[in-house]
Amino acid sequence: MFDRFRRRPETHGAVLKRLGGRGSPVSPDEATTPGEESPAESSREPAVILRGLTKRFGSFTAVDSVDLDVARGEIYGFLGPNGCGKTTTIRMLTGSLVPTEGAAQVLGEDVRRHPERVKRRIGYMSQKFSLFEDLSVAENLRFYAGVYGIDDASLPEVVRETIAAAGLTGREDELPAHLSVGVRQRLALGAATIHHPEILFLDEPTSGVDPIARREFWDRLYALAARGVTLFVTTHYMEEASNCTRLAFMYRGRIIADGTPSHIRTETIRHRIVEVSGLRDADEALTWLEQQPDVQEVYAAGARLHVSLAEDAPQATDTLAPRLAAAGFGEATITPVEPTMEDVFVHLATRAGT
Ligand SMILES: Nc1ncnc2c1ncn2[C@@H]1O[C@H](COP(=O)(O)OP(=O)(O)OP(=O)(O)O)[C@@H](O)[C@H]1O
Ligand SMILES: [Mg+2]
Repeated sequence: MFDRFRRRPETHGAVLKRLGGRGSPVSPDEATTPGEESPAESSREPAVILRGLTKRFGSFTAVDSVDLDVARGEIYGFLGPNGCGKTTTIRMLTGSLVPTEGAAQVLGEDVRRHPERVKRRIGYMSQKFSLFEDLSVAENLRFYAGVYGIDDASLPEVVRETIAAAGLTGREDELPAHLSVGVRQRLALGAATIHHPEILFLDEPTSGVDPIARREFWDRLYALAARGVTLFVTTHYMEEASNCTRLAFMYRGRIIADGTPSHIRTETIRHRIVEVSGLRDADEALTWLEQQPDVQEVYAAGARLHVSLAEDAPQATDTLAPRLAAAGFGEATITPVEPTMEDVFVHLATRAGT
């Protein structure tokens, strides 16, 4: 799949995938087993601690011994190609899928032992299914308010507030199918946060949402983060990865890199990245560059090419221009650039795949 990605000139800042599995809405169970200790109170507890978390489906390992720490207040980006195990991990964290092995703690609670306690304190916007198509805007919210245990007395006010916050006042009786994708996701976010969760899991919340609505959605996420809500979000949009305070990259069920975006940008890629622009035929130049021994990776970013030069070829930057010219690409301009998140993603996935 990365060959396809690397060769397509229109992929800059773009979606790196199309969808996979199906999540399910959280339905907290109010019951607490008598005699067991009360839920963890301390807000100092990390939001998420995973140790050796594993999920196997038959002989296939979808999530492979994942260790992860998410501090409170983070906007934690969870990245990786289609089918690498992101949704499966989130479903285990939200108590909707039982792990095969390992430990998962959310807000100080052991998810395996006390899934109901966890479910009450989290919000979950699943990848595919968050709204009921046959319920109106207001009915969807009333449903989620009930699921999350909001009492009947406060329900009308809570629903009214959530509708107003989602910018849907006056559209209470419309069905979700009549809303644009961006507005639907706004409603789904309202539903997932109607009970003021401490941590919110968002599985590709902006997939298919146009850039303006996506920015607006992220403003809503920032507002939640500013109120202290921890966010755990999957995305295939690289500019959204840059919005996060920390990132983890998953590949074939394993975490292959994690850290702040700037740490990942500067530490993970030790190569020099150059941008080749002004090309008459970027596709042809890309094919030529891929054949060069000192070129580690190359991919199209709009009409430009991003080229990652091998670390053990220090002269490559200087020799690239004359070599390109000799190969018939004399019009090319070469500019050293800081690696983008997209460079990082391509690099990590290529490295892990070889
Ligand atoms: N219930 C299941 N039974 C069998 N295999 C499953 C099941 N759920 C997920 N898988 C497989 O586990 C792997 C991880 O799937 P998952 O949905 O977690 O990936 P993902 O990273 O969320 O992908 P995407 O970016 O496409 O959403 C995939 O190969 C998927 O086919
Ligand atoms: Mg998924």
